[in-house]
Amino acid sequence: MDETAPIQALELDSGMAVRGTVTVPGDKSISHRALLLAARAEGTSTLRGLSPGQDVTRTRGAVEAMGAEVEGQRVTGGVGRLHEPQGVLDVGNSGTSIRLLAGFCAPLPWLTVLQGDDSVANRPMDRVTVPLRTMGALVDGRQGGRLPPLVVRGASLTGIDFTPPVASAQVKSCVLLAGLGAKGETVVREPVATRAHTEELLAACGADIRVQRVGSARVVRLRESSLTPFEIDVPGDPSQAAFWVVAACITPGSEMVIEDVYLGPGRTGFIDVLQRMGADLEVEVTGESTAGRRGRIRARHRPLSATEVGGHEVPGLIDEIPVLAVAAAVANGVTTFRDASELRVKESDRVTTMASELGAMGARVEPLQDGFVVAGSGGAPLQGATVCSHGDHRVAMALAVAALVADGATRVEGWDAVASSYPGFAEELQACVS
Ligand code: S3P
Repeated sequence: MDETAPIQALELDSGMAVRGTVTVPGDKSISHRALLLAARAEGTSTLRGLSPGQDVTRTRGAVEAMGAEVEGQRVTGGVGRLHEPQGVLDVGNSGTSIRLLAGFCAPLPWLTVLQGDDSVANRPMDRVTVPLRTMGALVDGRQGGRLPPLVVRGASLTGIDFTPPVASAQVKSCVLLAGLGAKGETVVREPVATRAHTEELLAACGADIRVQRVGSARVVRLRESSLTPFEIDVPGDPSQAAFWVVAACITPGSEMVIEDVYLGPGRTGFIDVLQRMGADLEVEVTGESTAGRRGRIRARHRPLSATEVGGHEVPGLIDEIPVLAVAAAVANGVTTFRDASELRVKESDRVTTMASELGAMGARVEPLQDGFVVAGSGGAPLQGATVCSHGDHRVAMALAVAALVADGATRVEGWDAVASSYPGFAEELQACVS
């Protein structure tokens, strides 16, 4: 057997506390953007602490195929050294890669073909192809541009004034990356602000960008720019920290410290939700850098009570809903998750997959069109079961957290999906359980 192959199924015993200090992988969203902007920046950038997951490896492969040189932490790029990729760019399971690369390639004078795995092949792309075409891009895909593969023929672009129809940082970022090579001003108006990494990094590499915040809305204005190289220490991924935080919150006797986590806008909504549920959390900001605010989270066990999750807070915690559903499953009372129909178009349909798999562990989860209702057990254990990731890393990791509060052993099949974002999670979890 190949010892380096990812584990196909994770087996966990019942009723365990988690204790320890962990550093989670570098933030996935920041890592994608850092690689793309370094590829466009004129010179050598230094990127420390990139996510080790397969998704970011796909973005790295794509920029290398277009002529960026990646050697350890150093990435040498520049518009003049980039060229047409020889083959199809395969993004694997990474929706962020395909949507951001579509915008990145739209103003570059060559043909790019972007394809992904079976999950990506069914994820909506019209949300990026429609605004790109309005900018003058020549982009197409299956079903008239609604689904991958995507074919992008570089063209002369003009900036647009665009209000995304869905709250999506990928859509915003796609349009801004295209705007880097578009005539005039590109404006993205977000009625509800999403994660700000693209804006933060564009500012760090000298782009002509202005950001205005009005309440929950944000307006980003960008002009055609050439980028200067930059240095970044990618902070830990809050979406990965969330698994440790919930694990500590729900298992008696637990205490976890998660070091050096990104704590900037649009990513910490799960902390607010857990605090509303009565969780024992301490959050300490330790610094501010190219990549934004960062700090430490300490989480201890304490019984949780139900809450309502919905409205404007949803874009800031959409990726954490699977593990928040686990917290809700053992809380006191009934928790509702609404306004989250985006869950249905992630790596799996997370409404359906979380309802069926948590249901198999004895949780009471009623699916809704735009979320679910979770009737908490009031601290009573779930039941160990054989459950399935459905090829979705966040579903797999959420189920591993649920296993910690289950009576009897749990087997999570399809564990290899976790390699897309957190290859070492199983080993680190096993080292922290007692
Ligand atoms: C991401 C944005 C979010 C998130 C995804 C990463 C990003 O997707 O769910 O995991 O890096 O921009 P949407 O833009 O579809 O909301």
